[in-house]
Amino acid sequence: MAFTLAVAGKGGTGKTTIAALLVSLLLKHGKQPVLAVDADPNPNLDIALGATLSKTIGELREDLLDQIRKMPPGMTKDDYLEMGIQECLSEGQGVDLLAMGCGEGPRCYCAVNSVLRRCIDRLRGSYPYMVIDNEAGLEHLSRSTTQNVDVLIIVSTASPAALKGAARILKLSHQLSLGISRRFLVLNNSTDCDPGQLRSYCEGMGLEVGGIIPYDRQFVELGLAGRPVSDLVNGSPGKQAVEEILGKVLTA
Ligand SMILES: Nc1ncnc2c1ncn2[C@@H]1O[C@H](COP(=O)(O)OP(=O)(O)OP(=O)(O)O)[C@@H](O)[C@H]1O
Ligand SMILES: [Mg+2]
Repeated sequence: MAFTLAVAGKGGTGKTTIAALLVSLLLKHGKQPVLAVDADPNPNLDIALGATLSKTIGELREDLLDQIRKMPPGMTKDDYLEMGIQECLSEGQGVDLLAMGCGEGPRCYCAVNSVLRRCIDRLRGSYPYMVIDNEAGLEHLSRSTTQNVDVLIIVSTASPAALKGAARILKLSHQLSLGISRRFLVLNNSTDCDPGQLRSYCEGMGLEVGGIIPYDRQFVELGLAGRPVSDLVNGSPGKQAVEEILGKVLTA
């Protein structure tokens, strides 16, 4: 089973940027192939990775429900989804991207979802590394999208409100039985903060800081230009900080 890193946090805290950097740094260190999963219904990990978005899992699920009565005899839901998932995979050099797409509409999805979960678990078995970029907030945890994770990286800015949100995610991740082995709080975009003060503030809230990523102008410029994180030039302080975090995550 893939060593799985999942990135969660409030909206706009830098989840996608960090997830894409983790993928790019795993590749740099020869830790590949990586399965990158965009679990945000509004996919954008493709841009940060410089990948092309294929059909989403949400679209595949709807297709199956449309086709279920027209499937050729002998073809099972498993066969249909197994084939369909290959179409959803956007294949790149050392990294394949799978986008979950929109959630569920008004139909009955229970049976399809359990087959889908089996197919994704099988797919996951063929990658040594997996990185999941989650949608903002807590719902993905309650919906159990983030399951069997080796390291959950909770991203927050240094603001007290954002940290409260991070503390809620941390609490919920303990309350639900999701099979998460370790949790890391990462403070992103924290310009001019005294790291010592920041750490003790967080510890006071029961949050242990696993890493601090400074404001990085290159991240903003790249985002505005719609360019992938692999275009970051050496000396990017943000990238360097993510590299240190990845080192900790892989060795701790
Ligand atoms: N350390 C940083 N320094 C400067 N800008 C940053 C930093 N981290 C992220 N950003 C910028 O913040 C914006 C939001 O980042 P990103 O899209 O990664 O957040 P997100 O948490 O995935 O957002 P959403 O919740 O909408 O999915 C982007 O423009 C990104 O370039
Ligand atoms: Mg995002």
